[in-house]
Amino acid sequence: PLYQSMLGLSELEEKLRKAFGLTRVVIVPGDSETSDRTRRELGRAAGQVLRGALKPKDVVAVTGGTTIAHVANQLTSPVALKDVWFVPARGGLGESLDYQANTLASTMAKRTGGHYRLLHVPDHLGEEAFASLMQEPNIREIVEVIRSARIVIHGIGDAMVMARRRKLEREEVEEMKADGALAEAFGFYFDRNGAVVHKMQTVGLRLEDIVNTELVIGVAGGKSKGEAIAAVMRFGHNDVLVTDEAAALEMVALL
Ligand code: F6P
Repeated sequence: PLYQSMLGLSELEEKLRKAFGLTRVVIVPGDSETSDRTRRELGRAAGQVLRGALKPKDVVAVTGGTTIAHVANQLTSPVALKDVWFVPARGGLGESLDYQANTLASTMAKRTGGHYRLLHVPDHLGEEAFASLMQEPNIREIVEVIRSARIVIHGIGDAMVMARRRKLEREEVEEMKADGALAEAFGFYFDRNGAVVHKMQTVGLRLEDIVNTELVIGVAGGKSKGEAIAAVMRFGHNDVLVTDEAAALEMVALL
């Protein structure tokens, strides 16, 4: 093991599970920030959790990012999941194509024999454009499918890293910083207590949809993400967390 932790991984899992009120925590050994192998293991473990949870007629909303890309690229199913739908959780959040939610939803569907629907909506829409897009029957229909998802599988990022990746305006970033933004998930920014301090207006899952989703699976690892992951867990609407040893040790230190 990379880490000389005092606790075994299953003890760590139980500790975090209780502390954050989750139904399940899965920890893979190592640090995905420094190890490709751990990154792949994290993706594989999350894929297993997802596959094990799927039921006929499920709609699965997926977010973008490199971590969920690892999940998508390794997802398998022994039988074709003909009646499972994969959809992006939100519209474009400025990720490069390989890591966009649309791409990952289609990859998951293709790899499992399921179906997918895409959402083609750009970032940073003005109020008016947003309102008129939402009047489009095609968009409304897919948005309704997304909001009906029984399962959401999502990545978690550091707020400032994500703000940079999304090329947010400096003013917006400064404001967020002042509000204590520490973590980002599904387009929302959270402070250390899990309070939402900033939102990005995109079409797709709203906060209330996430709150009402039956199964919310967070997937994130790496030492430097520990604080951010803990912040999103404190938001309190995750059911499952799949992480790595390095992030888990950071989280335990914050308890
Ligand atoms: O932009 C999509 C997203 O899932 C964010 O919500 C999250 O913060 C980020 O990607 C995680 O990205 P990565 O797995 O590449 O660190």
